[in-house]
Amino acid sequence: MPTTCVIGAQRGDEGKARIVDLLADEADVIVRFQGGSNAGHTVMFGGQTYRLHLVPSGIFRPEKTCVVAHGVVVDLEVLFHEIEGLRNQGFEIGRNLLVSDRAQVVMPWHRRIDQAREKSAGRQAMGTTGRGIGPAYADKVSYRGIRICDLFEPAWFEERLRLNLEEKNPILERVYGEAPLDFAQIRDAFMGHAEKIRPFVGDAVGFLHDAVAAGKRVLFEGAQAVLLDVDIGVYPYVTASNSSALGVSPGTGLPPRALDRVIGCAKAYATHVGNGPFPTEDHGAEGQRMRDVGKEYGTTTGRPRRCGWFDAVPVRFAARSNGIDALALVKLDVLRGFPSLRICTAYDTPHGRTTNLPASAAAVAAATPVYTEFPGFDEDVSGVRSFGDLPANAQGFVEAIERECGVPIELVSVGPSREQVIRRGGR
Ligand code: IMP
Repeated sequence: MPTTCVIGAQRGDEGKARIVDLLADEADVIVRFQGGSNAGHTVMFGGQTYRLHLVPSGIFRPEKTCVVAHGVVVDLEVLFHEIEGLRNQGFEIGRNLLVSDRAQVVMPWHRRIDQAREKSAGRQAMGTTGRGIGPAYADKVSYRGIRICDLFEPAWFEERLRLNLEEKNPILERVYGEAPLDFAQIRDAFMGHAEKIRPFVGDAVGFLHDAVAAGKRVLFEGAQAVLLDVDIGVYPYVTASNSSALGVSPGTGLPPRALDRVIGCAKAYATHVGNGPFPTEDHGAEGQRMRDVGKEYGTTTGRPRRCGWFDAVPVRFAARSNGIDALALVKLDVLRGFPSLRICTAYDTPHGRTTNLPASAAAVAAATPVYTEFPGFDEDVSGVRSFGDLPANAQGFVEAIERECGVPIELVSVGPSREQVIRRGGR
């Protein structure tokens, strides 16, 4: 396995974690390179369900090294909770987890400002996860961030903390009518956090360079998805990081050429949590059926996900902008029993028909999807392990997606467990 990145090719929640878990078997190192605890990664095996927010999904294989690289904004309390939960479930967490000393820390004001901003934004609310992600990245790029290495320099940390509170407390109090944060309380809490995180912290940039130079098999685990990428997503309905393969280099310190292969994950239909345009959203019985059968509720927030038909326009865009080499198409089983299946192949807009994703969120919102219909399948596909054993209509639907997106589909998942996967390798 060359160095490989797994990303979401839609709007997030494409089941990347289970694909990462599968590929992790062949990897030596698994790396989170962007996002934070806004991610909700679910892995199921051995009859158990595991949910992760920050720890890479390779953690279930103790002989591998999992890296939280500096592109991630780290909420230490969430991370501690996750480590403790994994240990309680019998997983060894020690030298197999490396947290970058350069990673930004999500501070208490980030969550508070994120939630207060959302509350006061009315119609313009983003539908964020409320985990402080936007404000944490905003501080990073406006030179106010606090990094993990800063926690080990108490005097410096206190200075940074004081500077931040002088700015953030007036915002909390005067702009949002919230209570201010207490300097001593945060200082003491974070000095405790520093000691707790210390055993996991190291030079992840150096570690990853050495790993790649030594020919180790490195797997980069994307969080969120291409349409949520801050630069190429449907702005402003995005998350604050480069939540696509574009984020690997800045988020790890590895040169762009270190990445050999990109795998995009896509559902056989489409979902979205949060606000923003979603041309193929189905508000009726079909969308509800996808939500019920596909259990489409957010891992991080529990919010019901908006559901609709597969939209080839953004997936095609994701494939081009990220150089996706292969797609993993997940949740095909959810589409069983629909009399007909649909794929959106283009948008009708006031300026004519287009197969490209418009830049403007308003233009995407105004787009009318152009559908191609396919006959559905009634057979239970959850036990199928080879593509040729799928019902002909299911095969036809998968092949149509492949054609429309211009990318080979190498994996098809037909159920939530590790083993419910059809591999179509070497295509
Ligand atoms: P934030 O990342 O919490 O700031 O939220 C910004 C947008 O990204 C919102 O629309 C969220 O619903 C969406 N988002 C963030 N993380 C995820 C994820 O892991 N899956 C799907 N959507 C996400």
